[in-house]
Amino acid sequence: MIYFDNAATSWPKPPGVAEAMLHFLNQVGANPGRSGHRLSVEAGRIVYQVREALATLFNVRDPLRIVFAANATEALNLALRGYLHAGDHVITASMEHNSVMRPLRALAGPSAGRQAITLTVVPCSPQGFLDPADLEVAIRPETVMIVLNHASNVCGSLLPVREAGAIARRHACLLLVDAAQTAGAYPLDVEADQIDLLVFTGHKALVGPMGTGGLAIGERVDLGRLDPLKRGGTGSRSERQEQPDFLPDKYESGTANAVGLAGLGAGVRWVLDRGVPAIRRHEVELTRRLIDGLTGIPGVTVYGGLDAARQTATVSFNIAGLLPSDVGLALDEEHDIMCRVGLHCAPAAHETLGTFPQGSVRLSLGALTTAGEVDTALEAVDKLAR
Ligand SMILES: Cc1ncc(COP(=O)(O)O)c(C=O)c1O
Repeated sequence: MIYFDNAATSWPKPPGVAEAMLHFLNQVGANPGRSGHRLSVEAGRIVYQVREALATLFNVRDPLRIVFAANATEALNLALRGYLHAGDHVITASMEHNSVMRPLRALAGPSAGRQAITLTVVPCSPQGFLDPADLEVAIRPETVMIVLNHASNVCGSLLPVREAGAIARRHACLLLVDAAQTAGAYPLDVEADQIDLLVFTGHKALVGPMGTGGLAIGERVDLGRLDPLKRGGTGSRSERQEQPDFLPDKYESGTANAVGLAGLGAGVRWVLDRGVPAIRRHEVELTRRLIDGLTGIPGVTVYGGLDAARQTATVSFNIAGLLPSDVGLALDEEHDIMCRVGLHCAPAAHETLGTFPQGSVRLSLGALTTAGEVDTALEAVDKLAR
């Protein structure tokens, strides 16, 4: 069986992830940050080490600036709904996932009434790329945030976050980057890229379990303005009935997913040990093999820039005369290949690529994918196309 759905969630997980979760459940078990006994202290230590590992990975100076959430979607909602106010102007691009688009559309829509923000969606090219000059043109005096996907979950195209960071600084607004598709697979440095809010998910290229994710909050973000999504028990300042105002507790109410975080810690350490540049080299090589193979099959249209160096290991295509759903079913049932078909929670991206509403077939590789698996998938697509 070949698993080519790593853009939805990575699998299999590397050795150590399940073991770390089992260790937490069987040997630690306690609630982190809630009690003074040694098991609780140990649980708190494990959770803090995950913050440290992520801070190292993203070059965040203070690990306490890493805030955990259930997934990237929750972290995006925290950043957008927590920070944006009536009258603010926000700029995003047309390759965004619905985890960005839906909160922004809701904040800008008629139901927001007098609280509404205004939103500019900058069009990307039909290959899924964004010209940073178009971002700068969209800036207004009331622009408070640029929100950008680091890489498309549909065709893998990389967007110019570093240039967007420079634009955000020039115009005194914040840059929020949705790194759901790149954290763990592509180098990210909040200092060099000038990212103010970096959203990550734990269950994709960070190779942790589902139920983990979060955001790194930069020093330019006014914490007084960034409201929490939820308030409640934090284990700190228990004498007070008001929410603590310090990081990370202000944004982390309720018992943490410590079992999941233990697994995420093992995943991030695996990524750090292998090294993001090595993972990236491996994925670029396999992506090139996949793109070259697919573009050579008559009747197959591949979307995006067709350049492995400018995208992640996610490749979308269609076969003339076949519905994406039929291709997906045949790959699963006849060839034991797991992929994802349709619109991938990103209708705006498909509109940009010209594949709306039928969508596409998406093959997404991972750090553990082999060249042999790519070749087997190419043979299967060739057979279906013929
Ligand atoms: C670009 C992008 N943003 C956000 C998300 C949402 O991630 P999560 O499932 O962790 O909420 C995804 C997941 O597919 C994604 O690809």
